[in-house]
Amino acid sequence: MSKLAADLGAINLSQGFPDFDCDPALVDAVATHMRDGRNQYAPMQGVPALRQAIAAKYNELYGASYDPDTEVTVTSGGTEAIFDAVAAVVHPGDEVIVFEPVYDSYVPAIDVAGGKAVVVTLRNPDYRIPWDAVRAAITPRTRMIMLNSPHNPTATVLSADDMAELERILDRTAITIVSDEVYEHIIFDGARHESMARYDALRARSFIVGSFGKTYHVTGWKIGCVVAPAPLTAEFRKVHQFVTFSTNTPVQYALADFLTQKRGYPELSSFYQRKRDLFLDLLSGSPWKPLPSRGTYFQLLDYSAITDEKDMEFALRLTKEHGVASIPTSAFLYRQAAPLALRFCFAKRDDTLEMAAQRLRKV
Ligand SMILES: Cc1ncc(COP(=O)(O)O)c(C=O)c1O
Repeated sequence: MSKLAADLGAINLSQGFPDFDCDPALVDAVATHMRDGRNQYAPMQGVPALRQAIAAKYNELYGASYDPDTEVTVTSGGTEAIFDAVAAVVHPGDEVIVFEPVYDSYVPAIDVAGGKAVVVTLRNPDYRIPWDAVRAAITPRTRMIMLNSPHNPTATVLSADDMAELERILDRTAITIVSDEVYEHIIFDGARHESMARYDALRARSFIVGSFGKTYHVTGWKIGCVVAPAPLTAEFRKVHQFVTFSTNTPVQYALADFLTQKRGYPELSSFYQRKRDLFLDLLSGSPWKPLPSRGTYFQLLDYSAITDEKDMEFALRLTKEHGVASIPTSAFLYRQAAPLALRFCFAKRDDTLEMAAQRLRKV
């Protein structure tokens, strides 16, 4: 959809990336570290300063203690982290529970490891986890469960009740969790991010995935991290060692500076909540019906009052005829028929959102 948007000169609210720049001081910090000669391979697990800053952040925000040397690893984006965690744990024939709509890299990672994705469906419009279905999906072959909160594309978040249910279901199993928390700092309306790190029993079996691309408006830098207990981290690093070996050195140092100074992430939720509210205000009274967006920088819009076209057809027509690109939710579905809803990214300048809304109101 991004390519189509570029080819046609449409406003691109499809792929999830900001159309504004990051803090110029972050670019300066990277440049400074480059000029200071930090341009060679970083240690495989990440530079110590960044791993220490990541551990300090988990401690401060979630009360969780991770050892920077044995439990924190810097990766080339959340995507690499997800792939490595799956490859580290899943063996041929193992089952992995995923929830659809599902982020696109999960099932391919399971396939490559020889595992079998067991898909549990989240249903429009509230997309809550059906815990009875999860219970029913668990078999002696279940090796892993993959969760994502705040959730792309539905913009739902896990609640404390969800965490209690998860803890009960996994009790006395050896099931490992991949918890994709790349949007941990983008959560709205005063909700608390329910990180696995907050819950001892869950933390003990979790790979928690983070992404600096989302947090610092630098998706193109592809840098993320994983925190996990030492035995899981040891397995994780056996994969990471040979997938990328290590991640961009000067960027790691710059991010370490920013994290240590607690820059950027504390105000991110209010920054994006204002953009969400602007986008929704601009569309209010139109036939586009917003589903609740509780986190991430995505907004699902129900278009059933406009057309009954399939989501892919309508998304293409919207781009070609009305000049606004979005993502059809069928891209995230395996079993369920797609609802009449499209995903829009509001990580955009206000004038981009205004222009897009103007066009959407005319559809
Ligand atoms: C849910 C989810 N997980 C993981 C990623 C990948 O993060 P990164 O860009 O750091 O690889 C994304 C990016 O869009 C995402 O939306």
